[in-house]
Amino acid sequence: MLRALIWLILTALSGGGVVVYALYQQYQEQSAEFRILYRDITVKLAQNDVILALLSNSSDPAVVQHKFPYILRWQTQPHDPPRPDINPARAGTYWINSPQGSLLIDLPTLLTDFAHTQKFHHFSLSWQGVALLTQGAEGHDDWWRWEKQIISPSQPLNLVVTNNPDWRNLPWLVLLLMGVFWAIAIYLYNQYQMTKRQRNIADLRAHFSELARLNAMGEIAAGMMHELNQPLTAILSYSQTAQRLIAQQQAEKAQPLLEASVIQTKRISALLLEFREKLHSDEQTLQPVDLHNTWERVAVLLGNEIERGKVTVINQIPESFPPFMASPLGIEQIFHNLLNNAIQAQQQTDKAWVAINARQTGNDIVLTVTDGGPGLTEQALEQVFMPFFTTRKDGLGLGMALTETLVQRLNGSIQAENSPNGGACFTLTFPLTQQEA
Ligand SMILES: Nc1ncnc2c1ncn2[C@@H]1O[C@H](COP(=O)(O)OP(=O)(O)O)[C@@H](O)[C@H]1O
Ligand SMILES: [Mg+2]
Repeated sequence: MLRALIWLILTALSGGGVVVYALYQQYQEQSAEFRILYRDITVKLAQNDVILALLSNSSDPAVVQHKFPYILRWQTQPHDPPRPDINPARAGTYWINSPQGSLLIDLPTLLTDFAHTQKFHHFSLSWQGVALLTQGAEGHDDWWRWEKQIISPSQPLNLVVTNNPDWRNLPWLVLLLMGVFWAIAIYLYNQYQMTKRQRNIADLRAHFSELARLNAMGEIAAGMMHELNQPLTAILSYSQTAQRLIAQQQAEKAQPLLEASVIQTKRISALLLEFREKLHSDEQTLQPVDLHNTWERVAVLLGNEIERGKVTVINQIPESFPPFMASPLGIEQIFHNLLNNAIQAQQQTDKAWVAINARQTGNDIVLTVTDGGPGLTEQALEQVFMPFFTTRKDGLGLGMALTETLVQRLNGSIQAENSPNGGACFTLTFPLTQQEA
């Protein structure tokens, strides 16, 4: 959700920049077009002054009309009474007057070329607020507007054009690529964060197992001292007594004491052997495990808690499910942790239940443990397998970390998610055939 929002913001910001730049370019291009249009119209209108100066009485109206179809009428004497300088006589026509005479210009015909080639949305030429020539739409709501008065003493017309951005010509492909770029960037950053987090978890776990090892060694050392102390004290006292007896020339009495010493020494040796075996006992031996029965046994072990919490424990593993090669104690511990957590998560729940299900897909066994509790929090979903992560007041946060270690020892994997009903759902996948480590 957050990632999508970040993507949207980044794409909108960078896309907005691109759009603004593209619009600015379009505006610049059209401003240039406006300047060209303005220049051409100015030149065209200036011709009228020249024509007015050159026309004489002798000019043949038919020839003039043919050459300059936009001159509707002309007079070579000053008009009397003088006509107004520009008289928008009727739509699109006006008089220009000079001491030599007057011309009636038909603006649409004069500018017919420009009118056809100009590409602005709205185009108008007006004089003192009276429109002489307009083209295109009204243009009041258009984005851009250019306005300039023609510099001509006889025809100071006002040129106005407006236009809209050409939306279809925006760099849509660039925008699309930008969206893709940010999506990839966010994805990669996410991956990076995830591997970093996984590394952190692995470091924590290594630290945790080191602690556990030290702890176990401490316990073993304490146990050894306790158990060796007694025989060593005995040997010391037997030997000292024997020494004394020999010094008193009573060597024959020393014999049983030395025998007792030997027995104690043998006991020490046996104890040490036992310790050594204990130290090696975590090498797991694989045996066929009946998953259905193991779940039942774990439910019996947790009978008190189940009864107290009024939890319905459901076993959906078929009784005929093929035995699975694993360490029986390991599977039992895994089930124990999962069931225990599910019970603890449903202490406030009325209809508490836990279900286990097993199926075989290809070369895998897939176990799912679901419950009717509130499910894992967002944080728990990410960190449930981290040592010391707990949301319970008296929790240690070691159960799921240990569970994951046990699952991995069986070459399996475990995933935590929430099922649609809201409860937690743990999915365990084991390869059907275990390679002995
Ligand atoms: N079935 C479940 N339903 C809801 N939350 C769970 C469930 N199982 C585990 N959790 C969450 O994962 C956390 C860690 O579990 P665990 O490692 O067993 O430690 P602990 O039980 O000591 O808290 C719990 O505190 C809880 O927030
Ligand atoms: Mg627990």
